[in-house]
Amino acid sequence: MKGIILAGGKGSRLYPMTKAVSKPLIPIYDKPMVYYPLAVLLRAGIREIMLITAPADVEAYKRALGDGSQFGASITYGVQYVARGIADAFLIAEDFIAGERCCLILGDNLFHGSQLKSLLKVACERSEGATVFGYPVKDPTAYGVVEFDDDGKVLSIEEKPKAPKSKYAVPGLYFYDGDAVALAKTLKPSARGELEITSLNEKYLKRGKLHVELMERGMAWLDTGTPEGILNAAQFVEAVQTRQGLYIACPEEIAWLQGFINDEQLRAIGNELKMTEYGQYLLSLLEK
Ligand code: DAU
Repeated sequence: MKGIILAGGKGSRLYPMTKAVSKPLIPIYDKPMVYYPLAVLLRAGIREIMLITAPADVEAYKRALGDGSQFGASITYGVQYVARGIADAFLIAEDFIAGERCCLILGDNLFHGSQLKSLLKVACERSEGATVFGYPVKDPTAYGVVEFDDDGKVLSIEEKPKAPKSKYAVPGLYFYDGDAVALAKTLKPSARGELEITSLNEKYLKRGKLHVELMERGMAWLDTGTPEGILNAAQFVEAVQTRQGLYIACPEEIAWLQGFINDEQLRAIGNELKMTEYGQYLLSLLEK
């Protein structure tokens, strides 16, 4: 399965920060925001990753993530010249996806919780159709909203509805079978001029192939699109990490736990960074 991190867009609710740096490179506590979606892909066992961003930001991402080999992965870079919408990722990444199944995650989405592993497993193992997630929120109007019946059958999915049919927002984490590119090519821009990811999901719904998995109580999905969102996410990460002594979204740790890198590789990275807490944390993993 291929993985795409979509990390372009304007991030306009974060001006003036995003004048200087692409949103997913802004730090959330002790690491760049993009580490959080990267960690999700690695936890899903996905090692072939394309990061898509605006032309001006490609070099900055390359500095931050390189070719991915330090995470036992391969990271290549795609360019989105105009922010034409989230589903545009499938047009840009057509050759990279090469007809395979694919997971798309937005560069500004942070997930944490014990349920994550099993959710990723279910979505990865589904060979046909698309999988989205449902996350209960107080005010779903700013999101894609999914409605489903008692058997979990999806009834509707709408983008930023004024009158939401359920309280379940759809987070920026999506799994698709090999038809996503062909279906994305049939999309027309929405009223706000974008190729909407919700429109792609609607195509799957019409074919009876849209699945929803619910994120339960205890799962954290944090929005980092506003200054308060960044502060809240940073405080969340700091609180959990300090209390447990375990890092959230440490890609090297996940790569090591997944067997993508071995003890020697982890030790080498830890030694290189040993003047930092991050490096000491990596080295401490080898002592347990
Ligand atoms: O966060 C989840 C929500 O993300 C979903 O519930 C919605 O269905 C989905 O449309 C999306 O809504 P947003 O209004 O939050 O999307 P936004 O335009 O803020 O873009 C999300 C991220 O994707 C952001 O970091 C920028 C990036 N992006 C967006 C667009 C439209 C791109 O890289 N290129 C683009 O063309």
